[in-house]
Amino acid sequence: MGKFVQNAWYVALWSAHLEPGKPVEREITGHSIVIFRQPDGTPVALENRCPHRSAPLYMGKVCANGNLQCGYHGLQFDASGACVLNPHGKGVIPVTARVRSFPVCERHSLIWVWPGDGPADPGLIPDLSVVDRADPRDVTYRDMLAMDANCELVIDNLLDLSHVAFLHGGVLGNDSTVSAQLKVTQQDDSVTVARWMPSVQPPGLFDMMFRRDASPVDHWAEITWHAPSCLVNNSGVTGVGQSRAQGTGIFGLHLLTPVNERKTVYHFAAVRQNPLPFPEEVRLDIMEKLKQLRRKAFTTEDEPMIVAQQRMIDRYGPEAARPVLLEVDGGTVRYRRVLERLLQREANF
Ligand code: FES
Ligand SMILES: [Fe+2]
Repeated sequence: MGKFVQNAWYVALWSAHLEPGKPVEREITGHSIVIFRQPDGTPVALENRCPHRSAPLYMGKVCANGNLQCGYHGLQFDASGACVLNPHGKGVIPVTARVRSFPVCERHSLIWVWPGDGPADPGLIPDLSVVDRADPRDVTYRDMLAMDANCELVIDNLLDLSHVAFLHGGVLGNDSTVSAQLKVTQQDDSVTVARWMPSVQPPGLFDMMFRRDASPVDHWAEITWHAPSCLVNNSGVTGVGQSRAQGTGIFGLHLLTPVNERKTVYHFAAVRQNPLPFPEEVRLDIMEKLKQLRRKAFTTEDEPMIVAQQRMIDRYGPEAARPVLLEVDGGTVRYRRVLERLLQREANF
């Protein structure tokens, strides 16, 4: 596990969590960044360290003209990172009084930041338009958690969903997930691991959204990794032998932001696909359970395992970095190759 791809869009936070007038600090691929909204709502991302006395700029204030004023001695920076006001003495602005500005884009209810120096094309943001198209009532709470582990361990976890049978005890998947027909495909810088499970017992979460009687279903789970660290899981159930359109499911968004070598912020939400017309109280119950069950699984089952795994890898070093490979590892091997190629390209740039 090495460095991070810098020339890529990373999720900084959910749009709704960036309130006007409240700068926030985020660390993304090792860069400390302050993000704020100008009074017209435009998001801005700047280097977080004031060049005067190194105060973190997130402790400053957003001025009416859209500048960010350092909270310590009042230097003001515009959206390009240039210092535009020095309230002291004759107001001379030293040439070195500037901070780096990072490309930022608001899309799919998320604030994205590009930490690299290369051209930041918003067209490279993964297509998460399922969020934009969904009825807002069918999108779960936009959640997040921080894990003390390298981002690659979290990607490994998500791309190999066979773990749901062992780690999540029948709620998100079951024995059928392990014995599923598996297909790994790659398209440019994306890798998909598709599982097809005909005529199986429905995992608890899917039964709750479908027939609610534990009768057998055809079940699919197709998770796609978009380089470098966003994953979308298209999963659902339908009646045995029926089309997917007759069933129901979710698009699980798993958006990972590497903070540093040992920390990853995980943004997640579920968007229901083809929700069935249940009475309102059932619909509300489904949404609440989706939110609770997923959060519980990620924080009390995935996170402790991944963090403990990181501890073992740190302890055993290179020995642990050469894992025994199983058939289920096709997707993880493939995505690491893509990541390696992207890192190599940046190293040669
Ligand atoms: S530390 Fe920012 S103005 Fe002094
Ligand atoms: Fe999991």
